[in-house]
Amino acid sequence: MKVSLLNLKLQYQGIKKEVLQEIEKVCENQTFILGENVKGLEKEIAGYCNTKYAVGVASGTDAILLPLMAIGVGPGDRVITTPYTFFATAGSIARLGAIPVFVDIEPDTYNIDPDKLEHVIKKQSTSQRSRLKAVIPVHLYGQCVEMETILKISKRYKLAVIEDAAQTIGAEHNGKRAGSMGDFGSFSFYPSKNLGGFGDGGMVTTNSGKMAEKVRVLRVHGSKPKYYHKFVGINSRLDEIQAAVLRIKLKHLQAWENNRMAGAQRYHKLFQDVGLSDIVSLPAVRLYNRHVFNQYIIRVKKRDNLRDYLTKEGIGTEIYYPVPLHLQQCFKHLGYKKGDFPVSERAAKETLALPIYPELTLEEQEYVVNKIAEFYPVRKF
Ligand SMILES: Cc1ncc(COP(=O)(O)O)c(C=O)c1O
Repeated sequence: MKVSLLNLKLQYQGIKKEVLQEIEKVCENQTFILGENVKGLEKEIAGYCNTKYAVGVASGTDAILLPLMAIGVGPGDRVITTPYTFFATAGSIARLGAIPVFVDIEPDTYNIDPDKLEHVIKKQSTSQRSRLKAVIPVHLYGQCVEMETILKISKRYKLAVIEDAAQTIGAEHNGKRAGSMGDFGSFSFYPSKNLGGFGDGGMVTTNSGKMAEKVRVLRVHGSKPKYYHKFVGINSRLDEIQAAVLRIKLKHLQAWENNRMAGAQRYHKLFQDVGLSDIVSLPAVRLYNRHVFNQYIIRVKKRDNLRDYLTKEGIGTEIYYPVPLHLQQCFKHLGYKKGDFPVSERAAKETLALPIYPELTLEEQEYVVNKIAEFYPVRKF
Protein backbone atom coordinates (compact mmCIF):
# COMPACT_ATOMS: atom_id res chain seq x y z
CA MET A 1 0.00 0.00 0.00
CA LYS A 2 1.06 3.60 -0.60
CA VAL A 3 -0.02 6.38 1.74
CA SER A 4 1.18 9.81 0.73
CA LEU A 5 1.68 12.60 3.24
CA LEU A 6 -0.99 14.62 1.47
CA ASN A 7 -3.26 13.81 -1.46
CA LEU A 8 -4.70 16.92 -3.05
CA LYS A 9 -5.92 15.06 -6.12
CA LEU A 10 -8.68 13.40 -4.09
CA GLN A 11 -9.91 16.75 -2.85
CA TYR A 12 -9.84 18.16 -6.37
CA GLN A 13 -11.99 15.35 -7.75
CA GLY A 14 -14.80 16.34 -5.37
CA ILE A 15 -14.89 20.01 -6.40
CA LYS A 16 -13.52 19.88 -9.94
CA LYS A 17 -16.68 20.91 -11.81
CA GLU A 18 -17.38 23.91 -9.62
CA VAL A 19 -13.75 25.05 -9.61
CA LEU A 20 -13.41 24.88 -13.38
CA GLN A 21 -16.66 26.81 -13.83
CA GLU A 22 -15.44 29.60 -11.56
CA ILE A 23 -12.02 29.74 -13.19
CA GLU A 24 -13.72 29.99 -16.56
CA LYS A 25 -15.80 32.92 -15.33
CA VAL A 26 -12.61 34.74 -14.32
CA CYS A 27 -11.16 34.05 -17.76
CA GLU A 28 -14.32 35.38 -19.42
CA ASN A 29 -14.19 38.54 -17.28
CA GLN A 30 -10.45 39.04 -17.83
CA THR A 31 -10.18 40.80 -14.46
CA PHE A 32 -7.29 39.08 -12.77
CA ILE A 33 -6.16 41.34 -9.95
CA LEU A 34 -8.10 42.51 -6.86
CA GLY A 35 -11.54 42.00 -8.39
CA GLU A 36 -14.91 40.77 -7.11
CA ASN A 37 -13.62 37.36 -5.98
CA VAL A 38 -10.89 38.90 -3.84
CA LYS A 39 -13.43 41.29 -2.27
CA GLY A 40 -15.85 38.41 -1.71
CA LEU A 41 -13.18 36.16 -0.21
CA GLU A 42 -12.00 38.93 2.11
CA LYS A 43 -15.54 39.28 3.48
CA GLU A 44 -15.97 35.54 3.83
CA ILE A 45 -12.62 34.99 5.57
CA ALA A 46 -13.34 37.85 7.98
CA GLY A 47 -16.63 36.08 8.74
CA TYR A 48 -14.94 32.70 9.15
CA CYS A 49 -12.28 34.10 11.45
CA ASN A 50 -14.63 36.39 13.37
CA THR A 51 -12.75 39.58 12.57
CA LYS A 52 -13.97 42.89 11.22
CA TYR A 53 -11.56 43.01 8.30
CA ALA A 54 -9.51 40.74 6.07
CA VAL A 55 -7.10 41.80 3.35
CA GLY A 56 -5.98 39.42 0.61
CA VAL A 57 -2.24 39.35 -0.10
CA ALA A 58 0.16 37.35 -2.26
CA SER A 59 1.36 34.80 0.32
CA GLY A 60 1.38 33.80 3.96
CA THR A 61 4.85 35.31 4.20
CA ASP A 62 3.55 38.69 3.07
CA ALA A 63 0.68 38.29 5.53
CA ILE A 64 3.36 38.54 8.25
CA LEU A 65 5.56 41.10 6.51
CA LEU A 66 2.78 43.60 5.77
CA PRO A 67 1.47 43.87 9.36
CA LEU A 68 5.08 44.37 10.52
CA MET A 69 5.41 47.15 7.95
CA ALA A 70 2.03 48.59 8.97
CA ILE A 71 3.14 49.02 12.58
CA GLY A 72 6.40 50.58 11.42
CA VAL A 73 8.92 47.84 12.24
CA GLY A 74 12.27 48.80 10.75
CA PRO A 75 16.04 48.38 11.04
CA GLY A 76 17.24 47.70 14.58
CA ASP A 77 13.77 47.00 15.98
CA ARG A 78 13.22 43.70 17.79
CA VAL A 79 10.35 41.25 17.34
CA ILE A 80 9.77 38.23 19.55
CA THR A 81 8.83 34.83 18.13
CA THR A 82 9.52 31.11 18.35
CA PRO A 83 12.59 29.39 16.88
CA TYR A 84 10.43 26.35 16.06
CA THR A 85 8.40 27.47 13.06
CA PHE A 86 8.59 27.77 9.30
CA PHE A 87 11.34 30.15 8.25
CA ALA A 88 8.93 32.82 6.97
CA THR A 89 8.00 33.90 10.49
CA ALA A 90 11.50 35.08 11.41
CA GLY A 91 12.48 35.74 7.78
CA SER A 92 9.83 38.46 7.55
CA ILE A 93 11.25 40.16 10.63
CA ALA A 94 14.78 39.99 9.25
CA ARG A 95 13.76 41.28 5.81
CA LEU A 96 12.80 44.57 7.42
CA GLY A 97 16.22 44.84 9.05
CA ALA A 98 14.68 43.98 12.41
CA ILE A 99 16.01 41.39 14.85
CA PRO A 100 14.16 38.20 15.73
CA VAL A 101 14.24 37.52 19.47
CA PHE A 102 13.44 33.90 20.24
CA VAL A 103 11.49 32.29 23.07
CA ASP A 104 11.53 28.51 23.50
CA ILE A 105 8.46 26.29 23.06
CA GLU A 106 6.26 24.00 25.16
CA PRO A 107 7.40 20.37 24.88
CA ASP A 108 3.96 18.92 24.14
CA THR A 109 2.20 21.42 21.85
CA TYR A 110 5.43 22.77 20.27
CA ASN A 111 3.95 26.27 20.52
CA ILE A 112 5.83 29.23 22.04
CA ASP A 113 5.91 28.90 25.84
CA PRO A 114 4.05 31.92 27.25
CA ASP A 115 5.67 31.42 30.65
CA LYS A 116 9.09 32.10 29.14
CA LEU A 117 8.06 35.27 27.32
CA GLU A 118 8.44 37.76 30.13
CA HIS A 119 11.77 36.28 31.19
CA VAL A 120 13.15 36.89 27.69
CA ILE A 121 11.78 40.44 27.67
CA LYS A 122 13.40 41.13 31.05
CA LYS A 123 16.75 39.79 29.80
CA GLN A 124 16.88 42.50 27.12
CA SER A 125 19.02 45.52 27.97
CA THR A 126 17.19 48.82 28.46
CA SER A 127 18.04 49.99 24.96
CA GLN A 128 17.10 46.62 23.47
CA ARG A 129 13.83 46.67 25.36
CA SER A 130 13.03 50.10 23.96
CA ARG A 131 13.29 48.59 20.45
CA LEU A 132 10.88 45.71 21.12
CA LYS A 133 7.91 46.25 18.83
CA ALA A 134 5.88 43.07 18.50
CA VAL A 135 5.34 39.41 19.33
CA ILE A 136 4.52 36.81 16.69
CA PRO A 137 3.01 33.73 18.34
CA VAL A 138 2.80 30.92 15.80
CA HIS A 139 -0.19 28.59 16.07
CA LEU A 140 1.75 25.54 14.96
CA TYR A 141 0.36 22.46 13.20
CA GLY A 142 -3.28 23.56 13.71
CA GLN A 143 -3.44 24.39 17.40
CA CYS A 144 -3.56 27.86 18.95
CA VAL A 145 -0.96 29.24 21.34
CA GLU A 146 -1.97 29.97 24.96
CA MET A 147 -2.99 33.48 24.04
CA GLU A 148 -4.15 34.93 27.37
CA THR A 149 -0.64 35.22 28.81
CA ILE A 150 0.80 36.42 25.49
CA LEU A 151 -1.84 39.15 25.26
CA LYS A 152 -1.43 40.21 28.89
CA ILE A 153 2.36 40.50 28.67
CA SER A 154 2.21 42.20 25.27
CA LYS A 155 -0.13 44.79 26.68
CA ARG A 156 2.15 45.35 29.67
CA TYR A 157 5.16 46.00 27.40
CA LYS A 158 3.14 47.73 24.65
CA LEU A 159 3.93 45.15 21.99
CA ALA A 160 1.74 44.50 18.96
CA VAL A 161 0.61 40.90 18.52
CA ILE A 162 0.65 39.30 15.07
CA GLU A 163 -0.75 35.77 15.17
CA ASP A 164 0.96 33.57 12.61
CA ALA A 165 -2.08 31.44 11.81
CA ALA A 166 -0.71 30.12 8.50
CA GLN A 167 -1.38 26.53 9.56
CA THR A 168 -4.43 27.16 11.64
CA ILE A 169 -7.43 28.67 9.86
CA GLY A 170 -10.61 27.78 11.76
CA ALA A 171 -8.79 26.72 14.94
CA GLU A 172 -10.20 28.03 18.21
CA HIS A 173 -8.81 28.95 21.60
CA ASN A 174 -11.40 29.36 24.38
CA GLY A 175 -14.03 29.87 21.69
CA LYS A 176 -12.01 32.51 19.83
CA ARG A 177 -10.89 31.92 16.27
CA ALA A 178 -7.24 31.96 15.27
CA GLY A 179 -6.38 35.35 13.83
CA SER A 180 -9.00 37.21 15.91
CA MET A 181 -7.16 37.53 19.21
CA GLY A 182 -4.13 39.69 18.45
CA ASP A 183 -3.79 42.92 16.48
CA PHE A 184 -3.43 40.93 13.27
CA GLY A 185 -3.82 37.37 12.02
CA SER A 186 -1.63 36.06 9.19
CA PHE A 187 -2.94 33.25 6.99
CA SER A 188 -1.36 31.25 4.17
CA PHE A 189 -3.18 29.64 1.27
CA TYR A 190 -0.15 27.59 0.22
CA PRO A 191 -1.60 24.41 -1.35
CA SER A 192 -0.79 22.14 1.62
CA LYS A 193 -2.64 24.34 4.09
CA ASN A 194 -6.15 23.39 5.29
CA LEU A 195 -7.46 26.05 2.93
CA GLY A 196 -5.03 25.82 0.04
CA GLY A 197 -5.15 27.60 -3.30
CA PHE A 198 -3.85 26.57 -6.70
CA GLY A 199 -0.66 28.51 -6.03
CA ASP A 200 0.44 31.08 -3.50
CA GLY A 201 -1.87 33.36 -1.55
CA GLY A 202 -2.43 34.81 1.90
CA MET A 203 -4.72 36.94 4.05
CA VAL A 204 -4.28 39.44 6.87
CA THR A 205 -7.09 39.70 9.41
CA THR A 206 -7.57 42.54 11.88
CA ASN A 207 -10.25 44.30 13.89
CA SER A 208 -8.68 47.70 13.28
CA GLY A 209 -10.10 49.65 10.34
CA LYS A 210 -7.00 51.86 10.35
CA MET A 211 -4.61 48.90 10.16
CA ALA A 212 -6.71 47.13 7.50
CA GLU A 213 -6.52 50.25 5.38
CA LYS A 214 -2.76 50.55 5.90
CA VAL A 215 -2.21 46.93 4.80
CA ARG A 216 -4.47 47.55 1.77
CA VAL A 217 -2.32 50.51 0.76
CA LEU A 218 0.99 48.76 1.48
CA ARG A 219 0.05 45.76 -0.69
CA VAL A 220 -0.13 48.08 -3.74
CA HIS A 221 3.27 49.76 -3.31
CA GLY A 222 1.88 52.15 -0.72
CA SER A 223 -0.10 53.97 -3.36
CA LYS A 224 -3.28 55.90 -2.59
CA PRO A 225 -4.65 57.36 -4.73
CA LYS A 226 -3.08 55.43 -7.56
CA TYR A 227 0.45 56.68 -8.40
CA TYR A 228 0.65 58.82 -5.25
CA HIS A 229 2.86 57.24 -2.57
CA LYS A 230 2.77 58.29 1.01
CA PHE A 231 4.62 55.07 2.02
CA VAL A 232 6.91 52.59 0.31
CA GLY A 233 4.97 49.36 0.00
CA ILE A 234 5.33 46.17 -2.02
CA ASN A 235 3.44 44.33 -4.72
CA SER A 236 1.46 41.77 -2.75
CA ARG A 237 -1.90 41.28 -4.41
CA LEU A 238 -4.06 38.18 -4.27
CA ASP A 239 -5.22 37.25 -7.74
CA GLU A 240 -8.75 36.53 -8.87
CA ILE A 241 -8.18 32.93 -9.92
CA GLN A 242 -6.80 32.05 -6.48
CA ALA A 243 -9.65 33.88 -4.77
CA ALA A 244 -12.25 32.10 -6.94
CA VAL A 245 -10.80 28.69 -6.06
CA LEU A 246 -10.49 29.56 -2.38
CA ARG A 247 -14.12 30.73 -2.18
CA ILE A 248 -15.28 27.32 -3.35
CA LYS A 249 -12.95 25.49 -1.00
CA LEU A 250 -13.97 27.69 1.94
CA LYS A 251 -17.50 26.27 1.69
CA HIS A 252 -16.06 22.83 2.47
CA LEU A 253 -13.47 23.86 5.02
CA GLN A 254 -15.46 23.16 8.17
CA ALA A 255 -16.32 19.64 6.97
CA TRP A 256 -12.74 18.97 5.86
CA GLU A 257 -11.42 20.12 9.22
CA ASN A 258 -13.90 17.89 11.01
CA ASN A 259 -12.54 14.99 8.94
CA ARG A 260 -8.98 15.91 9.91
CA MET A 261 -9.97 15.93 13.59
CA ALA A 262 -11.72 12.58 13.21
CA GLY A 263 -8.58 11.20 11.53
CA ALA A 264 -6.48 12.43 14.45
CA GLN A 265 -8.80 10.68 16.92
CA ARG A 266 -8.55 7.46 14.90
CA TYR A 267 -4.74 7.64 15.01
CA HIS A 268 -4.92 8.18 18.75
CA LYS A 269 -7.01 5.06 19.26
CA LEU A 270 -4.93 2.97 16.86
CA PHE A 271 -1.68 3.93 18.60
CA GLN A 272 -3.20 3.05 21.97
CA ASP A 273 -4.68 -0.24 20.73
CA VAL A 274 -1.37 -1.37 19.33
CA GLY A 275 0.46 -0.53 22.54
CA LEU A 276 2.58 2.25 21.06
CA SER A 277 1.44 5.13 23.18
CA ASP A 278 4.44 4.82 25.51
CA ILE A 279 6.92 4.80 22.64
CA VAL A 280 5.25 7.37 20.43
CA SER A 281 4.24 10.74 21.93
CA LEU A 282 0.94 11.69 20.37
CA PRO A 283 -0.20 15.28 19.76
CA ALA A 284 -1.33 17.04 22.92
CA VAL A 285 -4.60 18.90 22.46
CA ARG A 286 -5.58 21.40 25.14
CA LEU A 287 -9.18 20.95 26.32
CA TYR A 288 -10.18 24.49 25.41
CA ASN A 289 -8.65 24.34 21.91
CA ARG A 290 -10.13 23.33 18.56
CA HIS A 291 -7.05 21.81 16.90
CA VAL A 292 -7.59 21.64 13.14
CA PHE A 293 -4.69 19.26 12.43
CA ASN A 294 -2.95 20.80 9.47
CA GLN A 295 -0.27 18.38 10.58
CA TYR A 296 -0.40 15.25 12.74
CA ILE A 297 2.91 15.24 14.61
CA ILE A 298 4.35 12.40 16.63
CA ARG A 299 7.52 12.49 18.69
CA VAL A 300 9.76 9.41 18.68
CA LYS A 301 13.28 8.23 19.38
CA LYS A 302 15.26 7.07 16.32
CA ARG A 303 13.09 9.41 14.25
CA ASP A 304 15.29 9.41 11.14
CA ASN A 305 15.51 5.61 11.06
CA LEU A 306 11.75 5.35 11.44
CA ARG A 307 11.29 7.82 8.62
CA ASP A 308 13.56 5.82 6.29
CA TYR A 309 11.65 2.66 7.17
CA LEU A 310 8.27 4.26 6.46
CA THR A 311 9.52 5.67 3.17
CA LYS A 312 10.56 2.17 2.11
CA GLU A 313 7.09 0.94 3.04
CA GLY A 314 5.42 3.58 0.84
CA ILE A 315 4.40 5.99 3.61
CA GLY A 316 5.02 9.71 3.15
CA THR A 317 6.26 11.67 6.15
CA GLU A 318 7.95 15.03 6.70
CA ILE A 319 10.06 16.78 9.30
CA TYR A 320 8.68 20.14 10.37
CA TYR A 321 11.34 21.43 11.12
CA PRO A 322 14.81 19.86 11.19
CA VAL A 323 16.78 22.99 12.17
CA PRO A 324 15.41 25.48 14.72
CA LEU A 325 15.72 29.02 13.44
CA HIS A 326 18.30 30.19 16.02
CA LEU A 327 20.72 27.64 14.53
CA GLN A 328 20.15 28.60 10.88
CA GLN A 329 23.25 29.84 9.13
CA CYS A 330 21.62 33.10 8.07
CA PHE A 331 20.95 33.97 11.72
CA LYS A 332 24.48 33.24 12.95
CA HIS A 333 25.09 36.93 13.50
CA LEU A 334 22.34 36.99 16.13
CA GLY A 335 24.76 35.15 18.42
CA TYR A 336 22.62 32.22 19.48
CA LYS A 337 24.25 28.85 20.04
CA LYS A 338 23.33 25.18 20.48
CA GLY A 339 21.63 24.62 23.80
CA ASP A 340 19.96 28.06 23.94
CA PHE A 341 16.50 26.61 23.21
CA PRO A 342 16.70 22.98 24.30
CA VAL A 343 12.99 22.21 23.88
CA SER A 344 13.01 23.35 20.26
CA GLU A 345 16.29 21.58 19.56
CA ARG A 346 14.94 18.31 20.92
CA ALA A 347 11.69 18.68 18.96
CA ALA A 348 13.69 19.23 15.78
CA LYS A 349 15.37 15.84 16.34
CA GLU A 350 12.30 13.86 17.37
CA THR A 351 9.15 15.06 15.61
CA LEU A 352 7.67 13.50 12.52
CA ALA A 353 4.57 14.44 10.49
CA LEU A 354 2.36 11.53 9.47
CA PRO A 355 -0.20 11.56 6.65
CA ILE A 356 -3.32 13.50 7.59
CA TYR A 357 -5.87 14.87 5.15
CA PRO A 358 -9.67 14.85 5.02
CA GLU A 359 -9.93 11.85 2.68
CA LEU A 360 -7.49 9.58 4.59
CA THR A 361 -9.14 6.20 5.28
CA LEU A 362 -9.11 3.99 8.37
CA GLU A 363 -7.40 1.27 6.34
CA GLU A 364 -4.58 3.64 5.39
CA GLN A 365 -4.18 4.77 8.98
CA GLU A 366 -4.06 1.16 10.20
CA TYR A 367 -1.31 0.52 7.65
CA VAL A 368 0.70 3.52 8.92
CA VAL A 369 0.34 2.52 12.59
CA ASN A 370 1.10 -1.13 11.88
CA LYS A 371 4.29 -0.19 10.06
CA ILE A 372 5.38 1.95 13.01
CA ALA A 373 4.56 -0.99 15.31
CA GLU A 374 6.70 -3.21 13.09
CA PHE A 375 9.59 -0.79 13.41
CA TYR A 376 9.64 -0.56 17.20
CA PRO A 377 8.20 -3.43 17.42
CA VAL A 378 4.97 -4.08 19.34
CA ARG A 379 1.77 -6.04 18.80
CA LYS A 380 0.00 -5.59 15.42
CA PHE A 381 -3.69 -5.53 14.52
C1 LIG B 1 3.95 28.86 10.26
C2 LIG B 1 4.03 29.43 8.88
N1 LIG B 1 4.26 30.74 8.72
C3 LIG B 1 4.33 31.29 7.52
C4 LIG B 1 4.18 30.57 6.37
C5 LIG B 1 4.38 31.22 5.05
O1 LIG B 1 3.31 31.07 4.17
P1 LIG B 1 3.57 31.06 2.59
O2 LIG B 1 4.26 29.82 2.22
O3 LIG B 1 2.16 31.14 2.04
O4 LIG B 1 4.33 32.28 2.26
C6 LIG B 1 3.92 29.19 6.47
C7 LIG B 1 3.68 28.35 5.30
O5 LIG B 1 4.38 27.84 4.56
C8 LIG B 1 3.87 28.61 7.75
O6 LIG B 1 3.66 27.30 7.91
